[in-house]
Amino acid sequence: MIRLSDVSYTYAKGTPFEKTALFNVELEIGNGEFIAIVGSTGSGKSTLIQVMAGLLTVEGVTSDGRIGLVFQRPEDQLFEETVEAELAFAPKNFGCKPEEIARRVTDAMRQVGLPDQYRLVSPLKLSGGERRRVAIASILSMQPSTLILDEPTAGLDARSKAQLLDEIKRLNDGGTTILMVTHDMDAAARLAQRIIVMSDGRVIADGDPRGVFGRADVIERAGLSRPTSMAILDRLRAKGVEIESDAIDIDECEARIRKCFKM
Ligand SMILES: Nc1ncnc2c1ncn2[C@@H]1O[C@H](COP(=O)(O)OP(=O)(O)O)[C@@H](O)[C@H]1O
Ligand SMILES: [Mg+2]
Repeated sequence: MIRLSDVSYTYAKGTPFEKTALFNVELEIGNGEFIAIVGSTGSGKSTLIQVMAGLLTVEGVTSDGRIGLVFQRPEDQLFEETVEAELAFAPKNFGCKPEEIARRVTDAMRQVGLPDQYRLVSPLKLSGGERRRVAIASILSMQPSTLILDEPTAGLDARSKAQLLDEIKRLNDGGTTILMVTHDMDAAARLAQRIIVMSDGRVIADGDPRGVFGRADVIERAGLSRPTSMAILDRLRAKGVEIESDAIDIDECEARIRKCFKM
């Protein structure tokens, strides 16, 4: 559980560079939720999650359980010589016993789909997508009850992206609360049960994907695009086809089209 009550955050307060990045945010995150945080660049998404994770300290934030935060491009911050050492770092610091450390390393590698033979490999020898999985696994080895990820799929190829999203979904199925900042509206609509929309430091919408992506005013104000499944149906509507356009994934989109054209 994470609760934000009337949370504001200002960078460089009292200097000419002062910038308020969050205004009066009210949010409650329940255990086991899968939430996507969306909004244009500079809308306050990264600030919001750093406040939630306690990295930026401010009044009005309460949480329980362990929160793991995966930064943007986390692979740039790998520093150990082997994958195993990277993943062992956090549990070692927590004072875990060697057997417990070994178990957590194994679990974390499995959770992100890293093959066992990578244990003694240097992270530098791995591909970009694999390095990112190592970075995420290094957070998972802390066994967080909440995992917050800042644009986890940015810059990955289509296949690594799909694999990583599957793994994140599986973590949520296993009970981990997920908060994921993303510019991928398709992934947000398909995977998250709840979408939080940020615009100019404010939460301007918070609800299920169908409802949030159905609001033209929100999409417009936040500078978002609708998920592909909705955009396709919007095109048909624009051509005069009478069809509902609230499909949150490609299967629903197909079903709407089949029904409309009696296929
Ligand atoms: N360290 C910082 N110092 C000053 N301003 C910052 C800092 N980090 C972010 N900002 C500003 O705060 C606002 C929100 O930024 P951020 O939370 O990074 O947005 P997003 O992640 O949605 O792109 C932006 O205007 C950004 O320029
Ligand atoms: Mg950001």
